[in-house]
Amino acid sequence: MNSSSILSPYKRSADHVQSPFRYPGGKYYALKFIIPFLHLPFHTEYREPFVGGGSVFFAKTKSLHNWINDLETEVINVYKHTQSKRLLELLVSRVVSETASRERHSIVKLWLPKSLLERAHRTFYLNRTSYSGIINKPAWGWEVGMSAPPINWEAPLRNAHKKLQGVTITDFDFEEIINAKSKEKVLIYCDPPYMLADQKRAYTKPFKSEDHVRLMKCLKRTSHLFCLSYDNCVEVKSLYKWANIYERNWNYNTANTSGQRKIGKELVITNYDAKELRQGQLF
Ligand SMILES: C[S@@+](CC[C@H](N)C(=O)[O-])C[C@H]1O[C@@H](n2cnc3c(N)ncnc32)[C@H](O)[C@@H]1O
Repeated sequence: MNSSSILSPYKRSADHVQSPFRYPGGKYYALKFIIPFLHLPFHTEYREPFVGGGSVFFAKTKSLHNWINDLETEVINVYKHTQSKRLLELLVSRVVSETASRERHSIVKLWLPKSLLERAHRTFYLNRTSYSGIINKPAWGWEVGMSAPPINWEAPLRNAHKKLQGVTITDFDFEEIINAKSKEKVLIYCDPPYMLADQKRAYTKPFKSEDHVRLMKCLKRTSHLFCLSYDNCVEVKSLYKWANIYERNWNYNTANTSGQRKIGKELVITNYDAKELRQGQLF
């Protein structure tokens, strides 16, 4: 099955923008089937506790109230700089005059930033020039003709700035975002680190097996609507057998193997009925 055979009513939102980040575990390739799950239920407040590079937040239609969060403080610091008009100008003027080279990468990697602006500059530079956008122990990974040059880093930052207006941005543990009460009708989209894939290198903060269980318990007791995406494995199916589970497969090209196709296998889990998006409901 490939992405074109999924009968999800996916249309690009009018306010869809490209994420300014490259991100390990980013859902860019899976937007086609995740976004319809998020546009389906009525909600007036949207929360993403594991926003990462924000490919889903930037693709989804904004709600009346919006809250993005990630435990990765350095990424959240870049979001805060991107949201503020004044800080955005300072960040843009620094990064567009950067050089994408192996030598410069080695220098920036060793920086010990003294201000939040320097930290945002370092994180954004390393994200754009490192293998798979990994900022935790970053390895040089920018390629001429394959990766955007620094002069092209400005437009996605400016587009993201517009979408981030009025959005709450935090760097808390996911429980605070899921548990927070509201008078609004809340929809939460969770994209935690995968259960089985080895992601030790990808993120600064480890997500342990007890965190997967903690997330499940938190979602089981929430009165908010939630949608969760995960790697397709028996461990996840067993943890969430009390919820609605939908299977999705899609084809994508890997970043570093020209033209080679891979199959992504994902579970989308909800506490609301999404059968109308059909295909492979398991429980
Ligand atoms: C799979 S990535 C999210 C990718 C994102 N959906 C995208 O498209 O770019 C998972 C994220 O969870 C974050 N994370 C790990 N542990 C967390 C925790 N306890 N609370 C909140 N975020 C956490 C990681 O920093 C990482 O950014």
